[in-house]
Amino acid sequence: MSAPLNLMAPDVRANPYPLYAELRRRPVCQVEPGGMWAVSRHDDVVAVLKDTRRFSSAGLGRSFLPPWLERNPVAASLVMKDPPEHTRLRGLVSRAFSGAALQRLEAQVRAIAEELAEAVVRQQEVDFVAAFSLRLPVRVLSLLFGLEPELWPRMRVWADDLLSIPASHPTPERREEIRQSLEEMERCFQALLASRRAAPGEDLVSELLGAEGLTDDERMSFLFSLLPAGFETTAHLLSNTVLVLTRHPREAERVIAEPRLIPRLIEEVLRYEPPAQSSLRLVTEDTEVGGVRVPRGALVAVLLGSAMRDEQRYPEADRFDLDREGQGHLPFGHGIHFCLGAQLARMEARLGLEALLARIRGVSLTRQEVSWSQSYIARGPLRLPVRFEPRA
Ligand code: HEM
Repeated sequence: MSAPLNLMAPDVRANPYPLYAELRRRPVCQVEPGGMWAVSRHDDVVAVLKDTRRFSSAGLGRSFLPPWLERNPVAASLVMKDPPEHTRLRGLVSRAFSGAALQRLEAQVRAIAEELAEAVVRQQEVDFVAAFSLRLPVRVLSLLFGLEPELWPRMRVWADDLLSIPASHPTPERREEIRQSLEEMERCFQALLASRRAAPGEDLVSELLGAEGLTDDERMSFLFSLLPAGFETTAHLLSNTVLVLTRHPREAERVIAEPRLIPRLIEEVLRYEPPAQSSLRLVTEDTEVGGVRVPRGALVAVLLGSAMRDEQRYPEADRFDLDREGQGHLPFGHGIHFCLGAQLARMEARLGLEALLARIRGVSLTRQEVSWSQSYIARGPLRLPVRFEPRA
């Protein structure tokens, strides 16, 4: 009997792409963990993400609520709603992510990126994840929220605690820590709402208060949801890019010499080593995907990371190619749930890499083996020990 197809197997976490290639040959089948249905071909992935009636996001929060937690604050987030509720909420919150809102942030994000880059490039050896990738999005989210500097380190802890809710079987002590973290976040967000109500500023919280029709509960759960949505993914994008550069020195040389290639580099990393590998959906009625029957109630793993390696859509899909033409790929999802923070994430990555690459002549790994995040949803290294070769 052949081994079960398991998205969580250690060798698959280290490199999921051979398993994805096998899945695309089937093409829709059940996998571990939990016997969920994996959709792996590009066109099937797009079809599922477009069909929000049969492939629902509502109820996902409930499926991931562990029994030890009374209330999962992320369960009420936009990403876990269907129309018409999703349409109403998305209309109300999207202004906070408009081009104008991003433009207001750009100079500040650039200053943070320069400060972090200056600190990493001259060290003998540095863990790029801890020193740069995790710091930039935490600082940017803090800026977006209008958080005081003393709360920046807490923001990181909060994001980690929220992300660990669905994934872990915590000890009683750890459960208590997570509960306390949630209460602390709630107090902080309530205080933020009260202070911006009294004196509106130009931050996201003030924007949300200006959106008539949103309740305070909805504002709170939206703020909660931005931590897992906007933090780890962006950190992984920065780390995955630096990792790809260490493994493709010729491409690294090219981008360092020609910084206008940085947006191209980011887009190809988003395809080749995407931080969000999978979206999830619940099947609302017996249906068919890619010619295979999938029953009502099934949980579907929509494998974005596989769709972007599909040879039918991308010639030589396993090759990292800075000159690849043809955008329109799926790293930020597709359809009504298309990532609200995509432009912000791209801006953070661009400014982060511009600051970094302007200061170096090259970058190399100091240890070859990489330990990857154990999630089948997010992909990025847990540590990335590198040595930069600073410019004179
Ligand atoms: C949704 C990826 C950064 C906020 C999504 C989805 C993906 C994604 C794939 C769709 C989920 C689904 O279809 O179920 C990414 C990646 C990022 C990133 C790869 C970084 C490289 C951000 C940032 C923010 C953000 C920086 C905000 C600060 C959101 C929100 C949604 C979302 C609010 C839900 C949209 C909706 O349901 O209508 N993201 N994201 N993301 N993302 Fe991102």
